[in-house]
Amino acid sequence: MTTFKRTTVTAALIYANGPIHIGHLAGCYLPADIYVRYLRSIGHDVKFISGTDEHGVPITIKAKKEGITPQQVVDKYYTIIKDAFEEFGISFDIYSRTSNAIHHETSQEIFKNLYDKGQFVEEITEQYYDEKAQTFLADRYIIGTCPKCANENAYGDQCEKCGTTLSPTELINPRSALSGEKPVMKPTKNWYLPLDKMQPALEAYVNSHPEWKTNVMGQVKSWLNDGLRPRAMTRDLDWGVKVPLPDTDGKVLYVWFDAPIGYISMTKELTDQWATYWQDPETRLVHFIGKDNIVFHCLIFPAMCMADGRFILADNVPANEFMNLEGDKISTSRNWAVWLHEYLRAFEGQQDVLRYALAAAAPESKDSDFTWGDFQTRNNSELVGILGNFVNRAVVLTQKNFDAQVPARGELSDFDQQTLTTLAELPSKIGDAIAQYKFREALALMMDVARLGNKYLADTEPWKVVKTDLERTGTILNIGLQIAATLAIVSEPFMPFTAQKLAKALKLGQRTWAEAGQADLLATGTSIETPGLLFSKIEDATIQAQIQKLQDAKKMNELAGKEVQAIKDTTQYDDFAKMDIRIGTIEAAEKVAKSKKLLKLTVNDGIKQRTILSGIAEHFTAEEVVGKQVTFLANLAPRPMMGMVSEGMILMAEDKDGSLAFVQPSKEVWNGATVA
Ligand code: MF3
Ligand code: ZN
Repeated sequence: MTTFKRTTVTAALIYANGPIHIGHLAGCYLPADIYVRYLRSIGHDVKFISGTDEHGVPITIKAKKEGITPQQVVDKYYTIIKDAFEEFGISFDIYSRTSNAIHHETSQEIFKNLYDKGQFVEEITEQYYDEKAQTFLADRYIIGTCPKCANENAYGDQCEKCGTTLSPTELINPRSALSGEKPVMKPTKNWYLPLDKMQPALEAYVNSHPEWKTNVMGQVKSWLNDGLRPRAMTRDLDWGVKVPLPDTDGKVLYVWFDAPIGYISMTKELTDQWATYWQDPETRLVHFIGKDNIVFHCLIFPAMCMADGRFILADNVPANEFMNLEGDKISTSRNWAVWLHEYLRAFEGQQDVLRYALAAAAPESKDSDFTWGDFQTRNNSELVGILGNFVNRAVVLTQKNFDAQVPARGELSDFDQQTLTTLAELPSKIGDAIAQYKFREALALMMDVARLGNKYLADTEPWKVVKTDLERTGTILNIGLQIAATLAIVSEPFMPFTAQKLAKALKLGQRTWAEAGQADLLATGTSIETPGLLFSKIEDATIQAQIQKLQDAKKMNELAGKEVQAIKDTTQYDDFAKMDIRIGTIEAAEKVAKSKKLLKLTVNDGIKQRTILSGIAEHFTAEEVVGKQVTFLANLAPRPMMGMVSEGMILMAEDKDGSLAFVQPSKEVWNGATVA
């Protein structure tokens, strides 16, 4: 294994077309941040690079949806995304964007280099063209009937109804999403990277990394087994980085060509030393991504780098799988998500709780599930019950009995010795797990430090010992506080806000990972402070509110899919004219005993009071309907119900969500008014 002098860590350049949710954090940015914070703590030279991907069809689609320009879309979301990451302590060295000039120049320079080296294959193909909009159509912009399931709104790249991957020419009756017109085939020239010819080199590269995660290897091997095909590195679109060749108006670089180059251009923005971080073989390159990005980072970007010849290839691509939410796939369009900015509104100042819960349930080897119930348990039983409880006891007892100064450590019992030995071993175990991208395991080991402290105090019971032996109490608390100090160091990658509070309260100063686990992190006599409440109990009602919010979203979706009933068969005027529809006023109402649904209404029809039994009791109380003018069918044959007779029928409108509304005249009219 190579020993590396430095590490370049990248986290996927997310499309700037929407805010971010827990799935993004758990899948990519949080593990990357844990890794980077750990590397910094061991004194390793590391640069953490990320930003937004501002090109490609996802951006133009969003612009079209919102009725604004692509530039306005990316400007809006760049800031929202950047702020959210900052709030959650994702410690990028730079968070930039692919719309910057330096990025355009860098991608064009690399494209030009590949072109000059003869690495591309030029090819003319027939592509769908919209004559009305005067533009070639990206796959997503072609809509038609799915050849598999007959869905009439399948996209040129995929049918969302049956999930089939499609190509635009497979669609039946294709139409343009821009103009609705039938597109025509038109020849166009594009530049392809011959991945087929590069396959042996890529296989050799992949095979030199047997240590890659199985979920990553699985996908990569399946692509290789299928056989790679040439892939166009330019597209007929007008949003993106312009192709740096003559006569290429209306052509831009493929978004998956320019986006990963963003990692390089952003490093350029960050430091003059950028080349060291991208070209020196003693630099380790690690890409953090979600599983939908695997092929691009493990095959296509490496192929570009090989073809270029100047850049190092990724040493590892620790991609995660997806995180579901309450058993369902996270979905922006269905609003089935926990958005980071919304989380902060409900859980102010509790970023670390989410970081902890997400790291604990991260989809490291397979898809995982985030549930609010689990979140609550993680907080209440683990963070409050173990970590917070331990730190609090150690600090408070020191304040109470030793004037808030770290007491001296006297003679050690066997149990003390054992505890200190265990403590000394934990930091390197945690570090090793992080270095191997096993973040869940690392997190559990970090909590073992808190557990060790909690158990140590529970077993030694300083609150009892203090009544008889102050010196022994001092020894116990000294050890307790040393454990807390180690906790401040090793919890930092996972929960930086908490770690900082703890370190400040213990007057720990800047410490490195190598110092963690030592028995003398805190000198005798050091004045400590209380770190305040590190974590607080999350009540059932708070969790219930979050679950309710998701249920509301689900309801909204179901309603969105609900369609207006088809019109019934034609009827003749004579049949309609037989109905005597009138206006009357409800003068009295009462619930019908033993019936859930029925209200007994007394309606003034202008001639007399009549009784109408109406099935609206689940929607209205008797009190709220009294006094309302209503529309009713006056000549419906009387119907016996519940031992009474109903003389007519109240007309109600049923809303989308199933709620009912009275059909009322637009001004008050006299009772008995006819409706026709
Ligand atoms: N924009 C892509 C996405 O959100 C990720 C691009 S990663 C990069 O899925 F490598 F291209 F930068
Ligand atoms: Zn289909």
